Amino acid sequence: MDDIESLERDLAALAAEAQDALASAADREDAIQIKNRYLGRNGQVAALMRVLRDLPNEARPRAGQASNACKRAIEATFSSLMERIAADELARRIEAERLDISLPARRPHTLEPNPLRAVEQDLIDIFAAAGFEVASGPEVERDFYNFEALNFPPDHPARDMQDTFVLEGEDLLMRTHTSPVQIRTMLAYEPPIRVISPGRVYRVDEDPTHSPVFHQVEGLLIDEGVTFADLKGTLRYFIDACFGLQARARFRPSYFPFTEPSAEVDIGCIFCDGDGCSVCSHTGWLEIMGCGMVDPNVLEHVGIDPDRFSGFAFGMGVERIAMLRHRVPDIRLMFGNDLRFLRQFS
Ligand code: DAH
Repeated sequence: MDDIESLERDLAALAAEAQDALASAADREDAIQIKNRYLGRNGQVAALMRVLRDLPNEARPRAGQASNACKRAIEATFSSLMERIAADELARRIEAERLDISLPARRPHTLEPNPLRAVEQDLIDIFAAAGFEVASGPEVERDFYNFEALNFPPDHPARDMQDTFVLEGEDLLMRTHTSPVQIRTMLAYEPPIRVISPGRVYRVDEDPTHSPVFHQVEGLLIDEGVTFADLKGTLRYFIDACFGLQARARFRPSYFPFTEPSAEVDIGCIFCDGDGCSVCSHTGWLEIMGCGMVDPNVLEHVGIDPDRFSGFAFGMGVERIAMLRHRVPDIRLMFGNDLRFLRQFS
């Protein structure tokens, strides 16, 4: 009887000792080692149970129960310890991998829109809203469309207004303006005609306000009974839409071979409000386009009866409009692809 009671006491003490040891385990491996030290095949519980063979038969079930109770107590402490270690690890990981979702996101770098494209699109939209369709023509052009049909006879001094890149040995040149699209459109379609034609043009020219390649937008309207009043009304609508209702404008007599009468359109200088500054050469006015009534000679060249039809045309430089709108001092910035410049328009 003494033996079994002292075994029970020893087992209970061993369980308490094991639980203490587990309570101070440093980590998972440490805990496993401690558990094995008590419960392993050669562990301390097994060692105590070696007395079993010296016990009388009737005491053995009691010894077995005491041994199982000791093992269960140690197992229970061990598994709740392992759960706590796992929970601690998870909490540490969540803390370490924490995301601050309130941080602003990094923006992907996309292409910057060129201000020229944006202004060109604006001009198209303004005229499209007034019923103009977009027409286009080739940049390598025949002399006939670029000059002759537009009433520039060979050797006519007006050709000097435009310093032309010619393709040697052929009847081809780089178009000096978008006006040849007028001819191509009138040859292809019957009036009424209402088109706008944006595109690249070329001239032998380079300085802060001129580039050898630049962009124009051409307009053409042909119908019965079209007058200069229609031209003025259309262009005033354009100036309102492009520069605002407050913009002042004037039509100044001018000369182009393909229009008669011809005019240039100025707006009140948007930099000095008309007082005079270096941008407007102290005139208070900025020239923005050429225009006029289509010359009857041009209509005849394309087989349109000038006694029945009349029309107007206009042409403007996209760079010029963009430079005025955005106060860009040098046209070459438009073509330079300098991101510091382009980013100002995004
Ligand atoms: N083609 C002219 C130029 O490049 C601009 C121009 C003036 C176009 C008068 C027109 C116009 O259609 O009517 O200088």
